[in-house]
Amino acid sequence: MSDPRPAAIRRLSAAGVGNPRLDSRLLWDYAQRNPGQFEALVKRRLAREPVAYIIGAKEFWSLEFEVEPGILIPRPETETIVEQVLDRFPGSSAPLKILDLGTGSGCLLVALLKEYPNARGLGIDGSDQALVVAGRNIARHDLTARAEIRRGNWLNDLAGGPWDVIVSNPPYIPSGDIAGLEPEVRDYEPLGALDGGPDGLDAVRALAAGFRRLGSGTAFVEIGAGQAESAQSLMAAEGLSVHHVAPDLAGIPRVVVTGLAVRAPAKKVLE
Ligand SMILES: C[S@@+](CC[C@H](N)C(=O)[O-])C[C@H]1O[C@@H](n2cnc3c(N)ncnc32)[C@H](O)[C@@H]1O
Repeated sequence: MSDPRPAAIRRLSAAGVGNPRLDSRLLWDYAQRNPGQFEALVKRRLAREPVAYIIGAKEFWSLEFEVEPGILIPRPETETIVEQVLDRFPGSSAPLKILDLGTGSGCLLVALLKEYPNARGLGIDGSDQALVVAGRNIARHDLTARAEIRRGNWLNDLAGGPWDVIVSNPPYIPSGDIAGLEPEVRDYEPLGALDGGPDGLDAVRALAAGFRRLGSGTAFVEIGAGQAESAQSLMAAEGLSVHHVAPDLAGIPRVVVTGLAVRAPAKKVLE
């Protein structure tokens, strides 16, 4: 039988798939472990299902993570958070306490615990499915002794701490923009991991209010393109000092780095 890959690349390209050559290779490699399936896998990709869901895996920070429909696929721009934490906390021996809000696949928590072998961490998510998948990724990377996963609504009712590092990649796409996203994202990725409300900043608002209650630590929050000014204002309105907003590799302001030591509240004037 002739090699089916060149035709697959042509069909994927004609269907508007962004990286037909790479996707064909990933599907081919996966089909070697699941013989006879290549054509079926290509058909799923032609329907714009993301490759990561088809093969059940995605690389983040050079580590492999299990993913499945219902779990956000880790993105390269989210690695900016890991870089920023490493920048701010140099020296891998630090016994940091790390909190990951909206942990999803657990990619941020796992990457950070790999970088800091003496650190411990807690991942929070509102989705039961995320807790299961994050738990599997933690076990896969031998981190069960140092990582815990819990169901929660951002920082509400969160016990424990104090935390040194708080990371979060919350949903931040404005609701009205969801319909215009690529089909891979719009039709397959979970809305609860994407939709940030009318201006995309609902979660950042909730996080900023919660950070104020924490009172210490450094927060690293991912935001969408064009949200830097508003996100900084939301942090400032809670009395928090934004250190800087770090760009991703494309130069887009992407991670708001904020000190959580709350400034003294303005004195209440007695009537
Ligand atoms: C954009 S995804 C990020 C997943 C992962 N941290 C990553 O970077 O790939 C946002 C995550 O936040 C979770 N989430 C949404 N609303 C939440 C809430 N109110 N409390 C906790 N987690 C929430 C979603 O279930 C989803 O897993």
